Amino acid sequence: MKDCNGKPVEDIIMHSGEKSSEFLGAVNVPIYQTSLFSRKNGSKGYSYTRINNPTTEAVERKLAELENAEGALLFSSGMAAITSSLMRYIKTDSRIVSVKNVYLGVQMFFDDYLKSKFNVRTEYFNAGAYDEFLKAVENGADVIYLETVVSNVFTIPDMDKICTYAKNHDIKVIVDNTYATPIFCNPLDYGADIVVHSCSKYINGHSDVVAGVVMSDAKTIDELRNWERGIYGAIIDPHQAWLVLRGMRTLTLRMHKHMENGIKLGKFLENHPKIEKVIYPALPSHPQYEAGKRLLRGYPGLLCFVPAGGIEKAKKFYASLDVPEVGPSWGGFETIINGPGMNISQERAERTGILRGQIRISVGLECIDTIIEDFKKALEKV
Ligand SMILES: Cc1ncc(COP(=O)(O)O)c(C=O)c1O
Repeated sequence: MKDCNGKPVEDIIMHSGEKSSEFLGAVNVPIYQTSLFSRKNGSKGYSYTRINNPTTEAVERKLAELENAEGALLFSSGMAAITSSLMRYIKTDSRIVSVKNVYLGVQMFFDDYLKSKFNVRTEYFNAGAYDEFLKAVENGADVIYLETVVSNVFTIPDMDKICTYAKNHDIKVIVDNTYATPIFCNPLDYGADIVVHSCSKYINGHSDVVAGVVMSDAKTIDELRNWERGIYGAIIDPHQAWLVLRGMRTLTLRMHKHMENGIKLGKFLENHPKIEKVIYPALPSHPQYEAGKRLLRGYPGLLCFVPAGGIEKAKKFYASLDVPEVGPSWGGFETIINGPGMNISQERAERTGILRGQIRISVGLECIDTIIEDFKKALEKV
């Protein structure tokens, strides 16, 4: 298990950032469900929950330590964390370089919102090709925005090389590390300036919270607290922060179980004659398996596959599964599928790299034999 500055990660999750002596001996962090802190009897630096709150801060200290960051700030959603971080660095006419097929909400922010309001231009590159990155960045950039493993296509950018390039050219790097979580990767160690997570996925892991977090150096965190988070006001509610903490207690256990289940299902699919392709960086068949081994310590249970025989067969298979829930999110306790390649045109498939008929599965914490049996039955029907 990884250490953070000599501390085992399990110990950080159980104990860091919280002192029972600060909370009347309470072994769990209490929920300070208050908007306001009175100055009458001394409020120890707290004033208003849009700026800071003891419950939220305890969770932030823990998250910061997990990601080897000087500080962390919780937000009301992953998108709030991402857009606030970007606005820290973006100004009119800025240039962004990002990975092709970055999470759709972020694509919309780049191509629609920032472009139309601030004339910000975004250049995309195939994350699996460092030479494409060099081409995309050759006209300069203010921000490079990466995902540790890219949404739906699961390409892996050479984060270490890109961060070195960025440092040499004075470009800021933001990495969305939601896929790997701090258990399997710490982008700040490679030289990223900001790490963001949607806590709505694995960090909380219980499909009952929408939240986000930003981790960075102390100065950037202070600026974000007072400017983007304080002024836009996309603050997390203390009760939500507490739910993130409660979910996080089992993060290490869950991530290893997700990985174990994911690899079992991935191997089953890879060996099945009715499956054309499995896209999962945990398997040696992944084109960037070596880059993944260099940059990550493990993988969650999020993978894609394409049933053989075309899109109609894929649709039939998709509809024949009983166990998984169906929907767009991932990273929870439950197995859930969605079909990014189910209704896409040939043109969009070529542009995005998503294959026609491609299905994404977030393998949950159920008994893996139950899931595999369900898959066997559904494949028989195709
Ligand atoms: C990779 C990634 N980053 C960020 C987000 C946005 O997070 P949230 O839904 O918490 O705003 C998502 C949501 O699905 C995502 O998949």
